[in-house]
This record gives sequence, C-alpha cells and structure tokens, in this order.
Amino acid sequence: MPTVTMTVNGQQVSREVDPRTLLVDFLRNELHLTGTHVGCDTSQCGACVVHVDGTSQKACTMLAMQADGCEITTIEGLAKNGELHPMQAAFKEHHGLQCGFCTPGMVMSAVDLVQRNPDPNEHEVREWLEGNICRCTGYHNIVKAIQHAAKDMRG
Ligand code: FES
Ligand code: FES
Repeated sequence: MPTVTMTVNGQQVSREVDPRTLLVDFLRNELHLTGTHVGCDTSQCGACVVHVDGTSQKACTMLAMQADGCEITTIEGLAKNGELHPMQAAFKEHHGLQCGFCTPGMVMSAVDLVQRNPDPNEHEVREWLEGNICRCTGYHNIVKAIQHAAKDMRG
C-alpha cells in the first residue's frame, strides 16, 4: 500500500493507506482525530471541513493520498496553549450550537471566511455557510458568533 505523509496540527505523520481512503476517514480512523465529523454521503453538510494548506475543504471529498505533503488543520488544532481560538470562544459565548454535530465544520469554515474577509456582513456570512448544514440552530446565533469572532480576530 502507498504511504502518505502530511503535517496534521503541526505534527508530521506518515501512514500506509488504501488508495481509496478518504481524508476524513484517515483523520478519524488512523489518527483518532474524531472532532471532524461525517454527516452525509453527499458532500453537502460540511461537518467534515478541515483546512488544507490554510483553506477550508470538505475532507469527505478528498482522498488521503491527495493530501500527501499538505498541511492539515483540524478542529483539534485550533486551540493554542489551552486557549480556545476566538472563533471557538465566540460560538460558545453566543450559543452558536445546540447538539454540536455541525460545529467543528462551521468553525473551520468560519475561520477561513474571516481570514479572507476580516469584516463580513451578515449576508456574506450566510452565503459562505451555504456548504454547512446545521439541523438545530436556525443559524442566527452562528452568524452572530462569526461576526463577533471576526471583530476579535481583527484585534
Ligand atoms: S460529511 Fe463531508 S460534506 Fe457531509
Ligand atoms: S448544532 Fe446540531 S447540527 Fe448544528
């Protein structure tokens, strides 16, 4: 079996993989990073979003082999030195979640949005989140959380 090597949350990992292994399954089953969720079989829900070389990607639409040599960040890699990332803190503070299933993907997508657009308006946030489905919250608090986090990330 081929070997893939990538940097995941700052640590280099190498594993032999079946070439058909999806990136999301590699992260969850091989590396035990189960914060990245699988919510659909159709690439619609966004629960599996991670950062690949700094931009958000659905980890269920990519093979682990396609991430060979890439830098991957998962939800487990966002908090630093025991401190939540401002986006995680804002979701907590503004109650941007209920069951939490969609939350890792929402947070990873939102961080990418704010890196591209440091001051997104409500319409821009809602448009960006089209690829992320939440079955619980109605999005109102999620949007509020992202706009507050954007302010904190601008400093
Ligand atoms: S699990 Fe990837 S989009 Fe739903
Ligand atoms: S908080 Fe339950 S799916 Fe979004």
